[in-house]
Amino acid sequence: MRKIVIAGNWKMNKTVAESVKLAADVVAAARDVRNVVVAIAPTYLALAKVAEVVKGTNVRLAAQDVHWENQGAYTGKVSADMLKEIGVDFVIIGHSEQRTYFGETDETVNRKVKKVQSLGMTPIICIGETLAERKEGRLEAVLTTQVNGAYAGLSADEALRTVIAYEPVWAIGTGVTASDDEAQEAHAFVRGLLARLYGDNVAQSISIQYGGSMKPENAAGLLAQKDIDGGLIGGAALKADSFLGIVTPGSRSASSLSVPRQATGLAPGAAAGRTGAPGFSSLRLRAPDSGSAPDARPDHPANLRLGACAQRTVLGSPGFYWRPRLA
Ligand code: PGA
Repeated sequence: MRKIVIAGNWKMNKTVAESVKLAADVVAAARDVRNVVVAIAPTYLALAKVAEVVKGTNVRLAAQDVHWENQGAYTGKVSADMLKEIGVDFVIIGHSEQRTYFGETDETVNRKVKKVQSLGMTPIICIGETLAERKEGRLEAVLTTQVNGAYAGLSADEALRTVIAYEPVWAIGTGVTASDDEAQEAHAFVRGLLARLYGDNVAQSISIQYGGSMKPENAAGLLAQKDIDGGLIGGAALKADSFLGIVTPGSRSASSLSVPRQATGLAPGAAAGRTGAPGFSSLRLRAPDSGSAPDARPDHPANLRLGACAQRTVLGSPGFYWRPRLA
C-alpha cells in the first residue's frame, strides 16, 4: 500500500515573512485534501515559523537537508534533533543540488537517512541521472548505485519508512520534463531495484515521487503512470495556486471518497514529531500495484480526472480502501 506524496521544495527562496504567507496560502488551499500527503519544505530559517502555520492542519513540514551527527562543530549545519523538535515530518536527502554543489555522496545520504529515521521522521531520498549519464547509457547504473548506497544497511521495515524522489537532473529547474514514458520507465526500474533488495511487497509499498519541472500542465500525465506516486516540486511550489494545481486532484478525491480524515493519516496534528502519533508508515493506505493498466489506483489524480472514483470501495476498516484491479 502506498500513498501519493506531493512535496514543495522551496529551495533558497522566500524570506521568513514570505514563507509564512505562502504556507498560510497552501494550508488554506489544501484544507480539504485528504488522501494525498501534502508537504512543504521552506528554508531552515523559516522552518520554525512555518511549523506554527501548518500545526494542526493537513499540510506537513519538510526540511531540505540535515546533518547526520547529533551536534558539534559543523558550521552551517542543522541536526535531526533540531528538526524533530519543531515538528518536521519529512527530510529531503541527497537532492541533486546537494550532490552537485555541496559534495553530497551516497555515503552521506545513507548516514542522513539512518539518522532521520532513528527519530521517526521520513526521508525523501533523491536520486537521478545527469543528461550526460543518460546519453552515455548509464541511467540504470547510476540509479542502481544511488539506491544501493542510500539503502545500505536498512532493514525492510526501515525501507518501508522512506520515500524516493526520482529527479532526472536535466529536468530540474530547466522547464524540460521527462516524458511520461521516460519517467515511468525510470520509476519502474527503481521499484525493481527495491524489489531486488527487499522483495516485491516492500517495493510496492514505497512511494516514488517524480521531480523535475513538474507543473499543473504536465502533472496529470506524469501522475497517471503506475509507478509515479507523487511529486517533488520546485519552481511550481513557489506559488500556492500552481502547487495546488498539482495537488488538486487529490483534493477532489477527498471530497468524493468521504474517508474519515483521521483514517487518511492526515488528522490535524497527527504527524510524527508533533504528537508522537505513528509516522509515515501509517499513511501508506493503498494496495500494491498489480496490473499493467495505465493506473488502477482509485485515489490517483489521473483516475480522478478520468472519473474512476466511482469504482472505489471503502472498506469497513476506517479509511482503508483498495483500488480496483483493472488489469
Ligand atoms: P523543479 O525542481 O520543479 O524546479 O524542477 C524540482 C526539485 O529540484 O526538487
